[in-house]
Amino acid sequence: MADVDVAAKPMLLDRLEDKPTDSLLALIQLCDADSRETKIDVGVGVYRDAAGNTPILRCVKAAERLLLESQETKAYLGSAGDIRFVELIKPIVFGEDGADDGRIVGVQTPGGCGALRLGAELVRAADKSARIFVGQPTWVNHGPLLGSAGLEMIDTPYFDKGTGRIRFDEMMSKLGEARAGDLILLHGCCHNPTGADLDADQWRAVAGLVSSRGLVPYVDIAYQGLGNGLEADAQGTRLVVEAAEQAIIAQSCDKNFGLYRERTGTLFVKASSARGAEVAFGNLLGLARTMWSMPPDHGAAVVRTVLDDEALRSDWRTELDEMCARIRQLRARIAAYDPRLAFIDRQNGMFSMLPLSKEQVLKLRADHGIYMADSGRFNVVGLSDENVDRFAAAVLEAMNG
Ligand code: LMR
Repeated sequence: MADVDVAAKPMLLDRLEDKPTDSLLALIQLCDADSRETKIDVGVGVYRDAAGNTPILRCVKAAERLLLESQETKAYLGSAGDIRFVELIKPIVFGEDGADDGRIVGVQTPGGCGALRLGAELVRAADKSARIFVGQPTWVNHGPLLGSAGLEMIDTPYFDKGTGRIRFDEMMSKLGEARAGDLILLHGCCHNPTGADLDADQWRAVAGLVSSRGLVPYVDIAYQGLGNGLEADAQGTRLVVEAAEQAIIAQSCDKNFGLYRERTGTLFVKASSARGAEVAFGNLLGLARTMWSMPPDHGAAVVRTVLDDEALRSDWRTELDEMCARIRQLRARIAAYDPRLAFIDRQNGMFSMLPLSKEQVLKLRADHGIYMADSGRFNVVGLSDENVDRFAAAVLEAMNG
């Protein structure tokens, strides 16, 4: 029998503390448990069609059929994942010029989260005291993902919930404190949680600062194609990456291919030289090996199959443009409801942040079965054609209350 030390600390797992569930993922469960037929789920960011469903894209179904017939092995691919998939994503994010840039290398990751974490681990491997300026508010998982890798986060003003405006001057003034080699987290498009994106002049100003001060942009681009179209949504990212000597870009196909649970993303790194990129690539492989060894294959295989087939690729563009147009229509419709909601039409992507307190959000949940994040963030495209007016009316009632 093992010796028992009565004075010993509690046993290993008994030393764990309770952890709150991620607030966005908890919302899914709360909403599922609500039996009201009239409930409205505008919590987590998934696309819904006019009937309120999240269907699998036609091009994805077709690619899956092709894969079922043609895939001959499930043997390992290695820590970089599906190389052809990464090659096909590169021009989508960086344009044709960027795609030819040998200083930019990439690996497949388990979704945008995997990319963000891997990028943070790479930064940490390069510099234990690395700092990253993070505009507030930001996506609830940015802090945990970057913080887990040990990056020091510096809060930076970004958005004023009361006025619905970007605090650009305050943001630039805070970024003025950044030192060469500091990182800045930027949302490539469709800002999560506010929907408020930098305009072209603001992107140019940020790119100027990045280049004059030697800053390293860390771009999270998870919604490309769902704001103003595939090309338009990449312009800011391309500008800052071009201006930067070094950059990190976390990309996701989870939303623009509707692959959510398949966890399909890439991490790109721009180094100062092709040799530096090679070294970064080797480091990425080593780090990935210690976290997930190799990324899951299916989502990337589907995207590769779609993008490598002219007809499927064109169908994807049609479906993506349809999703984008639906989001724009819903934004216009809510904005037209009342001048106080007009700002919603000037924003992009799935999310908007309403000027509501947590108490008002909880009251909307209790009284109307409306499930949005405590911050007042709601998923615009969580609304269906049937409930959008009811939603707008309830929100205005809450704003008046
Ligand atoms: C969201 O913000 O709702 C999505 O990015 C889903 C997630 O993982 O939080």
